[in-house]
Amino acid sequence: MRSENAPSQAAESVRAVREMPDPAYAGLWDSIVVDASVKDRLLRATALNLRLRRELPFETTALHGLVLLHGPPGTGKTTLARGLAHELAKITPKRQARLVEVNPHGLMSAEHGESQSAVTQLLAEYVPSLADDGVPTVVLLDEIESMAVARSEASLAANPADVHRATDAVLAALDANTTAFPNLVFVATSNFVGVLDEAFLSRVDVQIHVPVPDSAGIVAILRSALRSMAPAYACLGELACDEQLEEVAGRLAGADGRRVRKTILEAMLGRDETVLDPGSTTIDDLLAAASRVMEDGGISQGGSEG
Ligand SMILES: Nc1ncnc2c1ncn2[C@@H]1O[C@H](COP(=O)(O)OP(=O)(O)OP(=O)(O)O)[C@@H](O)[C@H]1O
Ligand SMILES: [Mg+2]
Repeated sequence: MRSENAPSQAAESVRAVREMPDPAYAGLWDSIVVDASVKDRLLRATALNLRLRRELPFETTALHGLVLLHGPPGTGKTTLARGLAHELAKITPKRQARLVEVNPHGLMSAEHGESQSAVTQLLAEYVPSLADDGVPTVVLLDEIESMAVARSEASLAANPADVHRATDAVLAALDANTTAFPNLVFVATSNFVGVLDEAFLSRVDVQIHVPVPDSAGIVAILRSALRSMAPAYACLGELACDEQLEEVAGRLAGADGRRVRKTILEAMLGRDETVLDPGSTTIDDLLAAASRVMEDGGISQGGSEG
């Protein structure tokens, strides 16, 4: 029963396997507005990791093939990790790369006592089998905190023992894969580095913080979002050039990229006219929306108030 279920569970936990370059993934990297150093560090860390582990023994490099993207929710971590594989394909020797997207939540909802074997099946057997042709492969472990929680006493009280055994399985798989599959690089994302297991963190080769956008970043996100809507609503192309977008950005100070993008919807739902014709959205609508979004969370809270 157990051995029959586990492989299918591993397959179900893999959201997607994509060969790069893939046009569907081409825009992801550029869609995230963030200091160039963040993207440079992520791409360099991944490319160098693959190369060093291929050419040198583990005893020399101590590399586990594990990069951690951490930062507040909605800052573009998952999008960057998905776009990374596409960028990697531009610089690998054969101009090839692969993306394997893992959804750890699926695993951790496994029946009690099954998580550990499910993690082992997935990370030590199924994922390596998807990449046994040697193609450089980025494995996205999204929201890793569900899978590699700290095994401190406080955490033991809050989490079932099964979750802690799953953490052991993650560590064992990372240790086994690092030399057996030097073409695999795991990119984990997390909002809460504080809850991650110390031994897991110790295996991270490079940590990269993804911050909320600064004022110039917010303007750039609004501009590019409005421009991408212009083919449907021409006037939004003009709105994208409005100098008062800086004022909108000022009101959105501290907001994450997801919330910045959603401010445009919030602006459109401010008046009946803009609902009927989203292209008639004005800078005043955006300014008012930015204030609403920062006062009460805008769309999300408005929705729950019913
Ligand atoms: N810096 C940014 N520039 C442009 N768009 C952004 C930025 N940050 C987030 N977004 C947008 O917000 C949405 C959410 O991004 P994503 O899911 O990658 O964030 P995340 O950091 O993984 O969030 P979470 O921690 O909640 O999983 C996407 O539509 C993305 O394009
Ligand atoms: Mg995410």
